[in-house]
Amino acid sequence: MWSSRLAFILAATGSAVGLGNIWKFPYITGENGGGAFVVVYLLCIAMIGIPIMIAEVSLGRRGRLSPINTMKQLARADGASQNWKYLGWMGVIAAFLILSFYSVIGGWSLSYIGHAFSGEFEGAGSDKIGAIFGAMLSSPETLMIWHSVFLLIVVAILSQGIRSGLEKAVNVLMPMLFLLLLVMVGYAMSTSQFSQAVDFLFTPDFSKLTTEGILSALGHAFFTLSLGSCAMMAYGSFLPSQVSVARTAITVSVIDTVVALLAGLAIFPLAFANGLEPSAGPGLIFQTLPIAFGQMPAGTFFATLFFSLLLIAAITSAISMLEPLIEWLEEQRGINRKVAALIAGVLVWSVGLLTVFSFNNWADLHPLSFVPVFAEKTFFDIFDYLTANIMLPLGGLFIVVYFAWFMNPDAARHEVGIKSDNVYRLTHFVMRYVSPALVLIVFLYNLL
Ligand code: PHE
Repeated sequence: MWSSRLAFILAATGSAVGLGNIWKFPYITGENGGGAFVVVYLLCIAMIGIPIMIAEVSLGRRGRLSPINTMKQLARADGASQNWKYLGWMGVIAAFLILSFYSVIGGWSLSYIGHAFSGEFEGAGSDKIGAIFGAMLSSPETLMIWHSVFLLIVVAILSQGIRSGLEKAVNVLMPMLFLLLLVMVGYAMSTSQFSQAVDFLFTPDFSKLTTEGILSALGHAFFTLSLGSCAMMAYGSFLPSQVSVARTAITVSVIDTVVALLAGLAIFPLAFANGLEPSAGPGLIFQTLPIAFGQMPAGTFFATLFFSLLLIAAITSAISMLEPLIEWLEEQRGINRKVAALIAGVLVWSVGLLTVFSFNNWADLHPLSFVPVFAEKTFFDIFDYLTANIMLPLGGLFIVVYFAWFMNPDAARHEVGIKSDNVYRLTHFVMRYVSPALVLIVFLYNLL
């Protein structure tokens, strides 16, 4: 078990806060035109993300097993169909696919620690930084090496068992990352483009919002809160029984959202100040932040620190993606933890190669071009879209539906831990009708 509520909050925050907040949120916000996308994203966090986090953590705590077996066991206890175990399976597969590309991007941060430390960013303009980024992307060997190192670290930690190390890492390093983001926002405020960036992020222009943008906002709410992949269910299974799940879920979601917004506030002023398009894509933070580090006092130190902390945030998220699969291998197949971690790591590594080549040799390869939604997409784009926009929302939908429709109502109420009758009734109503309906509406809109 986690030693306390705080320990769980730290671990869950470690899972939630990661590349999703600092790397992905800014670039997809940029690609989707800014403010209106942010509004939809925030609504998704509040109306869908928080309720589903409450459901997912509650299921995990009641089952107290790996997600797949938790779902089996709960379905048995509640007299529901055994097919609910496939929900656990879908989550495990989604998390596996996410990790395959997440690890490659984690590798980018690793590579950038080296660039930062060597002082290359000092006084560099957007051309030089663009060239560093381009050189990294165009070399499959470079990407493969860092992808391997990243996964090695993750597997090494997982094979030791996660709890004690995770608590410590998150306890000290997350607040540091947070402070450093504040420093970066402070720096961004000193550029004359700060108000333009605030405008871009917070003044919604709904004419820029497409139905696909709405789906991305929904998908990102799941991705950034680690929902729908059973990662939170796995962590919930270690949560002490007297803790209020509802309060805890809200705390984690608020921290996660604040980190993402800070990242946006730090990055867009720099993008505007250096003539980069907000829609520059996955390279956005790697092409903007180094310029700022290169200009500030002690920039080499801050840059090295920043990319190291980003790496740690990525690692604490990556751990939560693989933990459910490893728990299952241990529980079900009796495989020892070290071997399980190794097997899982090798598999993820292999699939990750498809992402490695998506940025160079296969940048123009669109393997599923016969499927309309995947027409223009590389392997990396496909994994990203399939997991964030389809599998996670679907997983989350089933999780909240199970919780609100199939789980024994007394057990449900007991897990959530909301004392006031009225507040609980409202929460339950949202979980039963509002969140599932909203997910379905966004899905249907995109299908039609
Ligand atoms: N929430 C993590 C991030 O924002 C990513 C993640 C997704 C982690 C799904 C676990 C499961 O970086």
